Amino acid sequence: MSDSVELRLDPAARGGTIPPELYGHFAEHIGRGIYEGLWVGPESSIPNTRGLRNDVLEALRQLDIPVLRWPGGCFADAYHWRDGIGPRDQRPRRRDPIWGNVIETNAFGTHEFMDLVELLGCKAYVAANLGSGTVQEMSDWVEYLTGSADSTLVRERRANGREQPWHIDYLGVGNENWVCGGNMRPEYYADEFRRYNCFVRPPYLKPAIHRIACGPNEADYRWTEVLMERAGTAMDGLSLHAYSLPTGDWKRKGPATGFDENQWFSTLRAAVRMDELITRHSAIMDRTDPDRRVNLVVDEWGAWYDTEPGTNPRFLYQQNTLRDALVAAVTLHIFHQHADRVRMANLAQTINVLQSLILTDGPRMLRTPTYHVFELFKCHQGAERLYVQLSAAPTYTYGADTLPALSVAATRAPDGTVNLTLANLDPHRDHPLSLRVPSNVAAADWRVLTAAAMDAHNTFDEPDRLVPAHLPAPAQEADVLQLNLPAKSVARLSLSPVS
Ligand code: AHR
Repeated sequence: MSDSVELRLDPAARGGTIPPELYGHFAEHIGRGIYEGLWVGPESSIPNTRGLRNDVLEALRQLDIPVLRWPGGCFADAYHWRDGIGPRDQRPRRRDPIWGNVIETNAFGTHEFMDLVELLGCKAYVAANLGSGTVQEMSDWVEYLTGSADSTLVRERRANGREQPWHIDYLGVGNENWVCGGNMRPEYYADEFRRYNCFVRPPYLKPAIHRIACGPNEADYRWTEVLMERAGTAMDGLSLHAYSLPTGDWKRKGPATGFDENQWFSTLRAAVRMDELITRHSAIMDRTDPDRRVNLVVDEWGAWYDTEPGTNPRFLYQQNTLRDALVAAVTLHIFHQHADRVRMANLAQTINVLQSLILTDGPRMLRTPTYHVFELFKCHQGAERLYVQLSAAPTYTYGADTLPALSVAATRAPDGTVNLTLANLDPHRDHPLSLRVPSNVAAADWRVLTAAAMDAHNTFDEPDRLVPAHLPAPAQEADVLQLNLPAKSVARLSLSPVS
């Protein structure tokens, strides 16, 4: 136990709205992410809606997912959308050279994705193929999706069962074109982006589709400089990809469970680095875009570990523990702090791949600790940012290195509820906190996600071993609430309006 830290909430200071899209997700054709995870097919014995499994749909709906990115990732760089339309039994079967040489049946394609998006009530973020596809192909896909004129492509969509045009909010013009999307130099890609972008144009752009250019890998600041200088005015968003690896070594990333404190610390340090990455990329963008018109879109983020022993290494299946809950919480808080530049982020990758919300095993499903963080934090979507000041900044020290121990964000919802979300990165020390409660609200709900072990996780036999606990309302003396934030925890305090 350490000295109490005072939290000062300034409900008068306005921080703008938290874009719901900061809580976005990403689903790529990898391993058991789409197939099994989302799509089981209409003939499956697993209860489903037009092929999409009901248990997963229901769990995802509870998160109010704002936006879903699809079909990749590197998969998108080799994806040809025409493979995924028309009668399912006639769709081509393609080898997937990127993710394990498995056969892609194309059973899940454009119509199935847009059906999913409609069932979830979220926005669509479609990633188009600039690496191995053509300008015409991308332009045709946009027309097929969104066109309403009596054109051959629109007739084809109608013949395939969709009368009305869909709306897509975001179009990715390429993915990781510095590696799997064509091994391009930024100068070359900037020109390619301008060329492809040029052909996604009216009449297929009403209402507007936000065009997102392939941005940098982690700290590749030169990529950002070149893209902004040469193509900044043509784009609505620039992507950023940054994963948190325990070791920083792609060949031996570290296990998802059974890790020691060294890897707990290093994974969280990698997650906290998101702040530096955004700050530096954003400063570069400020040079040519001082009004911050262009959105920095962190459309791939999350923890990346060695795949689970005994599973296909290219399927990227990993367990998800209390450590992942902390990674999610601190990263989401960082996005809040940068919401004037970062207006969308997409966790990789929804189900059975990397830092997932949900894991499945045949008909069984579990919600991961990461899922529970998104459920606790969904109150922030579209809410007004409030500023929280800490009277002290306790640190978490491991060896010679330190991290801030506490991470906090607050918002006020349209109904007046004030929500504070908190994370304690220190696996050993609780942190007592005191909070002066504004007179127009009162403590209503205190939920805490924690466990004894750093690698605590849910299993198919015990799917609810790690869930946020509703704790008794914190003690209040006069207008000050006393809270105890346990070691290695993520929590939410909700303060309801009082009349
Ligand atoms: O998310 C897994 C992969 O990571 C994506 O396909 C790619 O874009 C990134 O390298």
